[in-house]
Amino acid sequence: MEKVEIPLGEWDIIHPGLAVYLVSTVDGRGIFNIAPYGMVMPISYHPLIYALSSAKDRDTYHNTRETGEFTLNLASCELLHQINITATKFPPEVDEFKEAGLTPIEGIKLKVPRIKECRGHIECKLNQLIDVDERVIIVGDVVSLSVDREVYMMDSLKQKESLAPIFYCHRNYFSLGKYIGDRRA
Ligand SMILES: Cc1cc2nc3c(=O)[nH]c(=O)nc-3n(C[C@H](O)[C@H](O)[C@H](O)COP(=O)(O)O)c2cc1C
Repeated sequence: MEKVEIPLGEWDIIHPGLAVYLVSTVDGRGIFNIAPYGMVMPISYHPLIYALSSAKDRDTYHNTRETGEFTLNLASCELLHQINITATKFPPEVDEFKEAGLTPIEGIKLKVPRIKECRGHIECKLNQLIDVDERVIIVGDVVSLSVDREVYMMDSLKQKESLAPIFYCHRNYFSLGKYIGDRRA
């Protein structure tokens, strides 16, 4: 097959999409914030460490720097509308749980609330911030994981489908999560 070199600006053509997390944080006054993030990944399993890439004008970044805490709530396909609401640039004093009609539930280890409508939650304490050009990599040590009991009790091969992750690429959303085989396939 012939290969075609494409402009760097057309990166989305070879981008499979990013699983969307709703990142919950609290500011120093106790006001809750939510923002969708796609640039999120584990960078170590033992110990469990996650990193996310953020622009510096995000309340998420300011709150994390201020309180040292953030929670990654895995979003599912049915939360598409709420994801788009929380992607709006609200002033810091606006509680985005209320704006999006999402329900805060207490964190297990952190003051940051989890989002009830999400099925899995990764509570993180800030490890470090790394400047990369105009952006910042937020690195967090995972201090608690929680998941809907229904998902936990399920056959592990069915779990991904039941999480119904939603993937984002260049302003469009896609679904994924069907089991297609193991490493010997
Ligand atoms: C699906 C989706 C994924 C996003 N991923 C990121 C991301 O990884 N990093 C980032 O800085 N902004 C990302 N954004 C943009 C922020 O969510 C958006 O600017 C939001 O208003 C920031 O809210 P905040 O100021 O309350 O933190 C994403 C937006 C959408 C819709």
